[in-house]
Amino acid sequence: MPSKQKATGSHYTPPELARFLAERLVAEVDFRRLPELRVLDPACGDGELLVALANSLPDNTLRNTVITGIELDDLSLGNAQERLEAFGSKSNFFKRMDFLEFYTDSEAQIGLFNNGPPTNKTIPPVDIIIANPPYVRTQVLGARKSQELAKSFRLKGRIDLYQAFLVAMTQCLKDSGIIGVITSNRFISTKGGASIRSFIAENYEIVELIDLGDTKLFEAAVLPSILIARKLPSTSRSSTNLKLPNRFVRIYENRTSNRDDREELVHVDSVYDILRKNFDGEYLVSETRFKLSTGTLSFSNLSSEPWQMVTETEKGWIDKIESAAKYRIGDVVKVRVGIKTTADQVFIRSDWDDMPEGRRPEDCLLRLIFSHDDAGRWRSSTRNESPKKILYTHEVRDSKREAIDIERYPCAAAYLRQYRERLERRKYVIKANRKWYEIWVPQDPLAWGRPKLIFPDISPSPMFFYDNEGLMVDGNCYWIVSEEENTDMLFLIQGIANSNLMTRYHELIFNNKLYAGRRRYLTQYVEKYPMPDRHSAHSRRIVDLVKKLVSVDVGDSMTEKYETDLEVAVAEAFGVEPLLSF
Ligand SMILES: C[S@@+](CC[C@H](N)C(=O)[O-])C[C@H]1O[C@@H](n2cnc3c(N)ncnc32)[C@H](O)[C@@H]1O
Repeated sequence: MPSKQKATGSHYTPPELARFLAERLVAEVDFRRLPELRVLDPACGDGELLVALANSLPDNTLRNTVITGIELDDLSLGNAQERLEAFGSKSNFFKRMDFLEFYTDSEAQIGLFNNGPPTNKTIPPVDIIIANPPYVRTQVLGARKSQELAKSFRLKGRIDLYQAFLVAMTQCLKDSGIIGVITSNRFISTKGGASIRSFIAENYEIVELIDLGDTKLFEAAVLPSILIARKLPSTSRSSTNLKLPNRFVRIYENRTSNRDDREELVHVDSVYDILRKNFDGEYLVSETRFKLSTGTLSFSNLSSEPWQMVTETEKGWIDKIESAAKYRIGDVVKVRVGIKTTADQVFIRSDWDDMPEGRRPEDCLLRLIFSHDDAGRWRSSTRNESPKKILYTHEVRDSKREAIDIERYPCAAAYLRQYRERLERRKYVIKANRKWYEIWVPQDPLAWGRPKLIFPDISPSPMFFYDNEGLMVDGNCYWIVSEEENTDMLFLIQGIANSNLMTRYHELIFNNKLYAGRRRYLTQYVEKYPMPDRHSAHSRRIVDLVKKLVSVDVGDSMTEKYETDLEVAVAEAFGVEPLLSF
């Protein structure tokens, strides 16, 4: 079942969440102005959302309501139809079909302007859409399907199924109609969400965007959000600026706060109670703490920038940091991803030493390679007895990166030839005019030898560690080398990036927490970290402290002391209060 769920994106909405969404939507509708109410769920499953909506409508509204449910799966559709029959609405229309195909079908499009009842070819525009459309990640969908979808729905890049649904749903909504969608929160902050963000900003006024964070309100691999928005009349649909009110609500489990203040927290029965209370603060549900923040979404005119969910106080704090900053990390160094071999089992192993002479590649080609589990704060924390090494197939000749000539390395050649068939299956390598035995992304062979910072792509707290021993890292890590001889710039970056201050900044600006308090550290985020003037006294102090923290013999108690001093120095460099207990 789980794999079917992944492929079809069917995580049904729990009744309580359905009720919450239905109530929020109904509160936004002025029923007096609607002689007939039309509602639609274009991926209705068992009808949970339509049932919740029917239950939340004001008395006497149902008999003027036309309910439409679309669904791919016959069995679920039958259930939905049966459940909704009991409500005695004006009419119900349930149809098994692919909603996306329907909306790319040109005949069906004509039907959009029809005002009659829904038919096999027409869904007349509706007043309310309530939906939890399938969420199928681009990786599962496949690159080609994802690009086709983007083209059909006039979005850019590789898109997810829910993004196509949003466009198709918008076409079925009346001007000033209201939509309530449960969807992944990724579109708010990722690069891949840029196109759908512009689409939303052009077509809607956001009433409320609720980031449900890691509250685990339902069983999906992604962190969910709820978008409640009103479709703009065509005359106002000109710019990509978000229209007010743009309220946001953000709720996340709070793992970091002080454990002694339980008495002061608001005790409630469920996360829904917190959402219904709807005011900022810390709450306790059984043993779990949650933090709710509300405010106005902020956004840049560039749709490539994420939308930010920051409160007034948080905004003031961010502004201070940004005005004290002299540049961003990306202005002074390049953040690179680690090596991608596209055949790790052949190239990366810990058992090279066990191989017979003659098949064991030459030592000079075997290089130590670390991954995310070797990462530490300040220095690598690896405890691996038999560390992994990579058979590195590249070198620099005449100042150019080239694949090695394997005829010069008979043992490596003998080893690689055993896997020739497998390696040649990587058609893209051959197509790119590369040698069959090359690793796919080797990065710059000379840069690996320089002092560098390494950090894993996902971790609960920042783990920027220093290396000056020529370590290589795999695709689960990123790395930064300094172009200069002087490594102080690296230490300054390390001190800033590992601080609580920058963790907080990262969280507020990029809004990309995962389950279990983990965060994503991607190039696109780290490059945007603000940096203080490198020549200031604060920066020199930061560099001195980091040098101590990366030195081999610093003990635990000294580490704690230096980390506290560092937090103070970083805060001073940006003119804000230190975040000592983050
Ligand atoms: C996340 S579930 C939500 C179901 C229901 N609305 C709920 O909230 O419980 C998504 C539903 O979309 C259906 N579905 C997937 N692709 C579809 C498509 N192209 N057209 C219509 N329904 C689709 C799935 O079968 C599944 O029932």
